[in-house]
Amino acid sequence: MYDYYLGGLTSFAVDRAAAERVLAYLPYQRRSAEENRRFLGRAVEFLAGPQCGVGQFLDIGMGLPTARSVHEIARAVNPAARVAYVDNDPLVVSHGKAMLAEPGRSVVVEGDLRDPDGLLRDPDIRAHLDFSRPVGLLLVNVLHWVGDSADPRRVLSVLRDAVAPGSYLVLTHMSMDLISNKDAAARAVRVYEHSNARLSPRGRRQVMRFFDGWELLSPGLVPKHQWRPRPETSPLPFDASWAGVAVKA
Ligand SMILES: C[S@@+](CC[C@H](N)C(=O)[O-])C[C@H]1O[C@@H](n2cnc3c(N)ncnc32)[C@H](O)[C@@H]1O
Repeated sequence: MYDYYLGGLTSFAVDRAAAERVLAYLPYQRRSAEENRRFLGRAVEFLAGPQCGVGQFLDIGMGLPTARSVHEIARAVNPAARVAYVDNDPLVVSHGKAMLAEPGRSVVVEGDLRDPDGLLRDPDIRAHLDFSRPVGLLLVNVLHWVGDSADPRRVLSVLRDAVAPGSYLVLTHMSMDLISNKDAAARAVRVYEHSNARLSPRGRRQVMRFFDGWELLSPGLVPKHQWRPRPETSPLPFDASWAGVAVKA
């Protein structure tokens, strides 16, 4: 559905039909998806750039390959950047392996954010990333697919404890806080209840707690289009996601 919002060609008829139902409730969903990718781009450029100097990324919930994948964004700034991509959807992983994996530069791994210990033990991730050095941990548009029963705060704390000081966390999270038409949003969330991916939108206070043990960078946890916007950033009249970038001191 996300790929369809972004104008991609990798979807089934059932995905497109469900996406159209969401768009009927939330007509700005397409622009919101585009702004999410733009936020990701700004954050990865910032991390890979001279100020942060991050040379390796762990992108969990990578999604289907799309224009300007994380390794392309990072390598435009730091040509030596390495990326480990993770997703729990076998279709996403097989597309990713075909389109993103490059020996010594990018690996694509099937894994589940709900099992952070398993991810940290994964031999392909461990062979590709050096956990004694800072990592850019990307949890963009993925944590709201992790329900409370999977204890997302524990997931975050396991990952935080595993990465070296100087690592960064990049996170966006869907929220009802920022949506004025709550009824339409609730109906859109119900569309996902009939899919294989249940949405767990969370309020700002809950999302803030995912940053426990991290130091949030300016401008803090903000609607994603307001995170260090550039002239091309769309001034969305609404936003459905909080976004933040933080460093591990
Ligand atoms: C909306 S896409 C986001 C893609 C990309 N991060 C972005 O922001 O453009 C969410 C992706 O997260 C994946 N995902 C959902 N739950 C996951 C989990 N528990 N572990 C790993 N990946 C997950 C989905 O399969 C999907 O590919």
